[in-house]
Amino acid sequence: MTAPDYFEQLYADSADPWQLAERHYEQRKYDLTLAALPRLRYARAFEPGCSIGVLTRQLATRCDELVATDPVESPLARARATVGADHVTFARGRVPDDWPDGPFDLIVLSELLYYLSAAERLEVRAAAVESLAPDGHLVLVHWRHPFEVATCTGDVAHAEMRVGDDLVAVVEHVETDFRLEVLAHA
Ligand SMILES: C[S@@+](CC[C@H](N)C(=O)[O-])C[C@H]1O[C@@H](n2cnc3c(N)ncnc32)[C@H](O)[C@@H]1O
Repeated sequence: MTAPDYFEQLYADSADPWQLAERHYEQRKYDLTLAALPRLRYARAFEPGCSIGVLTRQLATRCDELVATDPVESPLARARATVGADHVTFARGRVPDDWPDGPFDLIVLSELLYYLSAAERLEVRAAAVESLAPDGHLVLVHWRHPFEVATCTGDVAHAEMRVGDDLVAVVEHVETDFRLEVLAHA
């Protein structure tokens, strides 16, 4: 897995290391992610690795309740300040160890899985399947190319989540740079 210190240092050097709040690439990807959600409303959602809450703020418009977590405090503080909605709860935590009690009818793993070890990704898959409501949707969005601290590509991470016959894809969107999938219980 990518060392926890790596993210602490990134946020010490920059409030928004990936320019999530500024880049057209990110906003377009968020727009596609929201558009891919099969239902208009979700009762209770979980978004681990929420960073400064740019996607969180947009997901919040579609959810009655949203739990968003990140292991680093500084982006969480910014997320709390900018999202500022009573139905969104921010907490410090890293998956798979800090997985809140379900059920969730929406789980969003966006630009996260390749920072985990292969064993952790398996644990995340198990936790997601376990806590996903019977009619729930599991959203995966990841950059497709290798990069220095990534333990795998987004394509590999998505393929791992689709191993087995317990989850099926209801949305698949593949571009040169990222892959977006929505999975549901088979
Ligand atoms: C590239 S950012 C993605 C932000 C957001 N999900 C998005 O798509 O806009 C990755 C975030 O994951 C967090 N992170 C890293 N390892 C994590 C883990 N094991 N569990 C939860 N979050 C983690 C980092 O602190 C960072 O804020």
